[in-house]
Amino acid sequence: DTREPVYRIGFSQCTTNDAWRRAMLAGMEKELSFHPNVQFQMLDAKNNSALQRQQVQELIRQKVDLLLISPNQSGPLTAIAEAAYNQGIPVVILDRRTTSRLYTAYVGGNNQEVGRTAGQYAAQLLSGRGQVLEITGTPGSSPATDRTLGFRQALSSHASVQVVAQVLGDWQPASVLARLPSVLRAHPGVDLIFAHNDPMARAAHQVARQLGRAERLHIIGVDGLPGPGNGLQLVEDGVLKATLLYPTGGEEAIRTALRILRHEPYVKDNVLGTMVIDSLNVGTVRAQTQALVAQRQDLRRQQLRLKEQMRRYASQKITVYLLLAS
Ligand code: FRU
Repeated sequence: DTREPVYRIGFSQCTTNDAWRRAMLAGMEKELSFHPNVQFQMLDAKNNSALQRQQVQELIRQKVDLLLISPNQSGPLTAIAEAAYNQGIPVVILDRRTTSRLYTAYVGGNNQEVGRTAGQYAAQLLSGRGQVLEITGTPGSSPATDRTLGFRQALSSHASVQVVAQVLGDWQPASVLARLPSVLRAHPGVDLIFAHNDPMARAAHQVARQLGRAERLHIIGVDGLPGPGNGLQLVEDGVLKATLLYPTGGEEAIRTALRILRHEPYVKDNVLGTMVIDSLNVGTVRAQTQALVAQRQDLRRQQLRLKEQMRRYASQKITVYLLLAS
């Protein structure tokens, strides 16, 4: 029998409620479609670290063969991820990190580099002089910490570019709509906003428009997803000056998980690259992502057809048996 054993992968996802997480899941499902022997279970922590701790506990109790986790915040999820690891469950950390070195593999972007690249681009855009406002992701979640760190680092070599205000966000547009208006009013000289993701950057543009300041403000986001209302379109429409590509790593995470489960060699730290997407290259990037999406759909169609052929083949075999038997 050459069939593979059944593997149970438990995925603790910090939230499922945005386009980026949906894209991540689509990537995972594409990769999982090659492995019918994998039982995949995703638990949604709804942006809540306490709930996520309970859910990881539950996956440990179920003795999953591998834990995939994207921790809502680093501190609150570190001990439980370590506990899984120490019990011999391979742990693959995805996108957001814990504070521990006790994990089997990491898949995701380099968020300090994302922040640094945004800072360099901002300084260039402002010709080395201006006021900047930063809108962060959830405090304590590693991409927020690292994007701030990298951004500040890059700006520190431009003395006349100053971060005059910081709005603590939570990755979600609603908080920006609520908190940004008063901060922006208090800082009439702001030239540029760096928001830690595109949904918050889009909300920042909405606020700037309401205050009659959209024309004078440059806005930069992160993610760079295709699809209506997402980063690429926002750049094409001039809502955002630029976005930093932040790949979801969904496919890579499943591939890495399978290598670990099959005891094949794997890379421990799988760091995915970033790049600036602005009006100069957004057309090219969009064309490439569309080609990828089309390939994915072709693949899906082929898989469905193959399944249908297998089903027909199986029923023909039965007919032949019946004929031979009669
Ligand atoms: C989606 C998201 C992205 C961001 C990432 C950081 O949930 O907020 O927009 O880049 O998570 O972990």
